[in-house]
Amino acid sequence: MLPPVILWNENRLSLLDQRRLPCSVEFLECERAVDVAEAIETLAVRGAPAIGIAAAFGVALEAGKGRAAASRAIERLAVTRPTAVNLFWALRRVEARLRRLPADAPDSALFSAVLDEAFAIQREDLEGNRALGRSGAKLLPDECTVMTHCNAGALATGGHGTALGVIRSARDAGKKVRVFACETRPLLQGARLTVWELMRDGFDVTLLCDNMAGSLMKSRRIDAVIVGADRIAANGDTANKIGTYSHAVLAKHFGIPFYVAAPLSTFDASIPSGEAIPIEERAADEVRKLPGGGMLPAEYSIWNPAFDVTDASLISAIITEKGAIFPPFAEGIASFLSE
Ligand code: MRU
Repeated sequence: MLPPVILWNENRLSLLDQRRLPCSVEFLECERAVDVAEAIETLAVRGAPAIGIAAAFGVALEAGKGRAAASRAIERLAVTRPTAVNLFWALRRVEARLRRLPADAPDSALFSAVLDEAFAIQREDLEGNRALGRSGAKLLPDECTVMTHCNAGALATGGHGTALGVIRSARDAGKKVRVFACETRPLLQGARLTVWELMRDGFDVTLLCDNMAGSLMKSRRIDAVIVGADRIAANGDTANKIGTYSHAVLAKHFGIPFYVAAPLSTFDASIPSGEAIPIEERAADEVRKLPGGGMLPAEYSIWNPAFDVTDASLISAIITEKGAIFPPFAEGIASFLSE
């Protein structure tokens, strides 16, 4: 069993502090929206759907102080991380909910409405992931080995997970799934989070460094690569954790199906292709840190994009809560989003 990841508790937001995992299970108590914003920026809470859920609760922390306070919270939360579109999607939902209230609604009504919306976003994400998991599970053989990257699990969502949700649902359907998890430099979400999450759930999971993926695919039978997404453009180009693109190129080379698992809240129909997806660049020190505890010299020039874009042409299917979309993606995406 996993501890709660995002928990509203007596008018405070309690976040499982993912910076501390797997060494210790600690919770970060947030009393103001700015606490949530900082938790998102520092990756105490991370993963596209979880960022959106946490942000919605972050607005709830301020909504009882009036519309202006809620708007300030939305503005602050919107500048935390640029790539995960679920953040903006969730904030828009909260904003729309506030707009539907009468102009003279008391602050207590604003608070209740935002809190209710945040709970709905969290609940719908969990339900969506279960549906997404069931449709993705059908794509996997009865006995299979899959490779994943970063953490697109219960820790990154309202529960169950997207990429890891497919793996969980496959097991629930009686399939035998073995997992290889890439460590995911520089912040090691795969090593620290995915392996921890899957081991706690009793999965057969093996860790590898990102640069071992090619050797793994060459030397063992890998039946599928399954990853999550931070933003999917109208044509299917997909932004996800840096390193995903290299895995997709390798998977194509070896003829291995490459699946993206994501809820519809991760699609951005306003962006025609991956070129327009904003890619977050993070602090050089994340790369500068050495395993032994030291730092690379400050004068080293470092490039640290947090995400990359996988071309739709490298993706075998995009698995959503409404079912899987197969290439060419544009039509399927448009129809799923319009339903
Ligand atoms: O920087 P992170 O840890 O927030 O990046 C997370 C990912 O890239 C996930 O794969 C993505 O958000 C999907 S989570 C269901």
